[in-house]
Amino acid sequence: MSLLDDLLNPNDPFARKNLELKGNFEFSEPSKYICTEDPHPQSVNAFDVNSSVSVRFFPPYNRECPNQLKGLISFAYHCSINTPDCSKNLTKWLEIGSLVGESASIFLGFPFIQKLYCVDFDPQANFFKRMDLEIKSKRCEVVIKKSQEAYLDFADGSLDVVYIDGDHSNESATRDLTQWLPKVRSGGFVGIHDYTSDWGDVKPAVDKFLSTFSKSINRYSYKTFIDGTFCFQKS
Ligand SMILES: C[S@@+](CC[C@H](N)C(=O)[O-])C[C@H]1O[C@@H](n2cnc3c(N)ncnc32)[C@H](O)[C@@H]1O
Repeated sequence: MSLLDDLLNPNDPFARKNLELKGNFEFSEPSKYICTEDPHPQSVNAFDVNSSVSVRFFPPYNRECPNQLKGLISFAYHCSINTPDCSKNLTKWLEIGSLVGESASIFLGFPFIQKLYCVDFDPQANFFKRMDLEIKSKRCEVVIKKSQEAYLDFADGSLDVVYIDGDHSNESATRDLTQWLPKVRSGGFVGIHDYTSDWGDVKPAVDKFLSTFSKSINRYSYKTFIDGTFCFQKS
């Protein structure tokens, strides 16, 4: 069984034990990770959403350095091992920014996620192709709205995890964090992509947000993953 197979079955006690035994589920900072090569190939336009080019799966991505995949898998796995009885208590997820459905596909590889809301004002054709079966089964629900409008549709404390990967400006990242944190239940998680990248202003927005809303956040829960996703747990 591959590491990926193990990770996709976090409810399976054998798989979990296996991971612990292997000791290969480290959460190292990007700078400490042995693979320093940038996984973004310079030769392709990663945002050519109408071609077969992928944002995270990066064909032809460097298979020795699948950091974009590993980061999100690690994030979802991290939420699961820090949630007692995750098949009952980690079921409702929401992502802001779905584009071509790659992060959504990764999340839906985790069986405990029973519902994934995908908020994007402009999801692409590839998103609907990838998510076809999940949309038909209603496991994935597409919310075609701006995040600053969609948050009004959700009750406070109604979500277990919110993952933010929308507009990466300081103002928008701050707004998304501020408007969506109340929607997460106590003990749930918020993840935000590109905290460590030099794309956009996510890092300063997150840092300021954490100090402003410190009472609502468990400061011992801060974690950064290999793809630059930052995660914290709501108090
Ligand atoms: C970086 S891409 C998301 C990539 C996606 N998570 C993936 O892995 O395939 C950013 C997406 O956020 C969406 N977006 C930007 N600002 C938004 C907003 N205010 N509300 C909703 N979606 C937004 C864009 O339409 C775009 O599809």
